[in-house]
Amino acid sequence: MKLVPKSPNGNPGKAEPLLSVGDSGFKKPVSRTRTIRIDFRNVAIAPESLMDKFVIRGGNPLVGSVRISGAKNAALPAMAAAILTDEPVILENIPDVRDIQTERNLLVSMGAEVELGYGRASHRTTISCNNLVNPEAAYELVKTMRASTLVLGPLLARMGRARVSQPGGCAIGARPIDLHIKGLERLGASIKQEHGYIEASADRLRGGHIIFDKITVTGTEDLMMAATLAEGETIMENCAREPEVVDLAALLTKMGAKISGAGTHTIRIHGVEKLHGARHRIIPDRIEAATFVIAAVLTGGDLQLINCDPSHLGSLIQKLEECGVSIKAGTDSMRVTNGHQLEAADISTEEFPGFPTDMQAQYMTLATQSQGTSIITENIFENRFMHAGELARMGANIKVKGSRAIVRGKTPLSSAAVQCSDLRASASLVIAALVADGETIIDRVYHIDRGYERIEEKLKGVGAQIRRIGEILPKRAAAPSVVA
Ligand code: EPU
Repeated sequence: MKLVPKSPNGNPGKAEPLLSVGDSGFKKPVSRTRTIRIDFRNVAIAPESLMDKFVIRGGNPLVGSVRISGAKNAALPAMAAAILTDEPVILENIPDVRDIQTERNLLVSMGAEVELGYGRASHRTTISCNNLVNPEAAYELVKTMRASTLVLGPLLARMGRARVSQPGGCAIGARPIDLHIKGLERLGASIKQEHGYIEASADRLRGGHIIFDKITVTGTEDLMMAATLAEGETIMENCAREPEVVDLAALLTKMGAKISGAGTHTIRIHGVEKLHGARHRIIPDRIEAATFVIAAVLTGGDLQLINCDPSHLGSLIQKLEECGVSIKAGTDSMRVTNGHQLEAADISTEEFPGFPTDMQAQYMTLATQSQGTSIITENIFENRFMHAGELARMGANIKVKGSRAIVRGKTPLSSAAVQCSDLRASASLVIAALVADGETIIDRVYHIDRGYERIEEKLKGVGAQIRRIGEILPKRAAAPSVVA
C-alpha cells in the first residue's frame, strides 16, 4: 500500500507536503529555509543504521557533565497536538531521535509542513497543519512506531475523520489500543476496524464521561487532545498522571484549550470551537536522565546531569538511596557519585509516580551489581524481560518467573556479543557493557537510536570507551533518500 498519494515526481501528497529545514520561526521569510523532499518509498527503515553496532570497553568511571535532551514521550504527543490547529506550533527542546523523525514523516505524509531549526535552534521544530490533505497513519509508519496512533484523536477532532493502522503486538507486550477506541466512541465517534485499519469518523465530537478501565499514558493523551475540540465538557477518570501528560496539557492550554486536573486521576476538559498556534518547550527526558544516573552509579563515577527535572525522578532517587547511592538534586540538575558497594532492593513497576517500567531494564543491570537478592516485578507490560537473557550471557544470575525476575548479586559481568530487543533493554545492555570486563559488542542499536539522542557521544564525553560501527555493506537503498 502506498503511504500517501504520489505526485508525478514521486513526492507525497496532492499538495506537495514539504519538510523544510531552516532557522525560520513562523514570522521569518520562508526563503531562509532550505527545503528538502523525502522519498517515502523507504521512509520507515534506514537499512544502513539497522546494521550499526556499539563496541564498548568497560571499566571507565563516568565523570563530568551530561546535558539531558527533551523527552521523546512528551515530544511525540506535542507534535500530534499541532494537528488540532491551522496555525503554526513551535516546539523547542525536541530530541533528535529516530521516533521524532518518524513522527515528522507521518505529519508530512498528511500534508503538514514541518520546519526544522539548525545550529543553535536544531532542537526546534515548527509544525503547520493548515493544509492537511490525508488524515491517515499508514501501516508502514505505525509498524515502526506505535505512538503514531496518537494522531487518531487529534485527526478526528480537527478533520472529522481518521484512518490509522492498528499497531499490532510489540516486543514488550500485546499493547492494544482498545481504550483509545472506547474513549473516542464515548465522545461520539463511529469506529470501524477492518483490513488492519481503524477508520473513525464524527461530525463533531461531543463531551462525555470516560473512565479508563486501566491507566494508559498515550490513551489519556489521545483522548485529552480529542476532547479539546469536542462540544461540551469531558470528564476523564483513572487518567495517567505522568509528567508527559502534564506537559501536553500545558501545551494544549497555551493553544487555547480549557483543561484542569492534568497530573491527577481526573481530568476535565471544556471543549472549544478552535485552537490556535503556540510556542512550547518540551520537558527534559526523565528516562534518559535516570539511565545516565544508573550508568554513573555502576561505573563508580561522579556525574552532573544538567537540564533535567529531578522532581520527575522521585521513585528512582528514593530506590537508589535505599541501595546506598548518594544523589544531590537541584531544581534542574543532579549530581550522582558512588564509591561504595550497592545493597540489593526490590522494585515493582507502577504508573507515575511509582517506579517507571521504562527504567526496569536499567535497574536490572544495577541489581546484578548489588549485594544480595533483588526481586523485580514488572506490572505494566507482560513481556518486558528480554534483556534478562542477554545480561545472563554477560554473567548475571537472573531467574525469570512470570512477571518477576530474581536477580542475585553481585556477579562480575564479562564482555560478550549481545543484541538489543527494545529501546530500554538496549540501554540496560549499554550500562552492563560499561561495567563489564573487556569489549562488548551490542547489535541492533537502532532500537536505542529511537529514543536516546547521540548516546555514544554523550557517554564518550564523560569518559566511556564506546564507538559505533556500521556493517560494511554496499549502501543500496539508504533511506529516507533526500532530494535537495
Ligand atoms: N493498554 C491496554 N489498552 C489500551 C492502552 C493500554 O490494555 O488501549 C495496556 C497496555 O497494554 C499496558 C498498559 O495498558 O499493559 C499501559 O500501557 P500505556 O498505554 O500506558 O503505554 P503507552 O501509552 O503505549 C507509554 C510510553 C511507553 C511507556 C508506557 C508506560 C509513549 C510514547 N510511550 O506507552 O514508553 O513504557 O507509556 O509508562 O509515551 C519507551 O519509551 O520505551 C516506552 C515504551
